[in-house]
Amino acid sequence: MYKIIKAEQLADKIYLMDVEAPRVARACEPGEFVIVKTAEAGERIPLTICDYDRDKGIVTIVFQIVGASTQKMSALKAGDSFRDFVGPLGRPSEFVHEDLEVLKNKKMLFVAGGVGTAPVYPQVKWLRNHGIDADVIVGAKTRDMLILEDRMREAAGNLYITTDDGSYVRKGMVTDVVRDLVEKQGKHYDVCVAIGPMIMMKFVCLLTKELDIPTIVSMNPIMVDGTGMCGACRLTVGDQVKFACVDGPEFDGHLVNFDEAMKRQQMYRTEEGRAMLKLKEGDTHHGGCGHCGGDE
Ligand code: NAD
Ligand code: FES
Repeated sequence: MYKIIKAEQLADKIYLMDVEAPRVARACEPGEFVIVKTAEAGERIPLTICDYDRDKGIVTIVFQIVGASTQKMSALKAGDSFRDFVGPLGRPSEFVHEDLEVLKNKKMLFVAGGVGTAPVYPQVKWLRNHGIDADVIVGAKTRDMLILEDRMREAAGNLYITTDDGSYVRKGMVTDVVRDLVEKQGKHYDVCVAIGPMIMMKFVCLLTKELDIPTIVSMNPIMVDGTGMCGACRLTVGDQVKFACVDGPEFDGHLVNFDEAMKRQQMYRTEEGRAMLKLKEGDTHHGGCGHCGGDE
């Protein structure tokens, strides 16, 4: 059992939990994820890691209520426990293994959208802890939906906040800020990391392609079981078929076929859609997730 040390609501339907998981805390790196389960027969929920304290053995997760399982999770309080807390899974962010001297000469831009701010934070914090200041753009629908502002302010070199409705700092989408920084303020970036809703990542990538900034995205939103078994997270990257949970979750955003991924994500939501995917992709969509019937 994995004890919840702290449970806090950050915004409407968005929760943060500090969980006692010493082995995961010791081994995890930015970009990786965990799978949590509230009960033996419960759904496996893949969540990117938001923070970790190796000394205290604590891993921080942030999640949004999107269905029955996350609704159930949101009711857990400090002192309650998760049945399973498996990880770290996936591959760490590429820069973690880069030569530090080379990395120090790179100017990095992070673009975080909504709940995607949570997986961006450990990356920016890691860089700060290694003496590298990154520029960070955080976008939220409204001021009330902005999360982790204080932590991000501490970790970022420069923090640019924008809200869709203009209720805080400035009005506009994250892409407006990217364009502003590059075209009006003359900033140069060697690499951009964009994490947020699929539609945001798609439009950030279209823009950074135009601006010639290599861009990494996190395809965590299309994962279902997170174990490489269900096939839900299949996506096309360039001319290759990849699985977000085992090959990612981070990929070259300029090569990801977002339209296909978003269409698959929609289809996966219905029984009919899952049956269609199974028919078309039988070889890889082989079940195991408990949703698709592929393992019956
Ligand atoms: P949201 O809809 O509030 O969007 C966040 C920001 O993204 C907006 O404020 C805006 O600046 C930007 N954005 C949205 N649409 C855009 C567009 N068309 N063009 C340019 N910018 C745009 O975000 P939310 O409600 O917090 O998003 C929830 C989604 O985030 C869920 O679908 C979840 O799966 C996903 N998510 C992704 C990751 C990941 O690893 N990629 C992690 C956590 C959550
Ligand atoms: Fe990747 Fe199921 S989430 S195969």
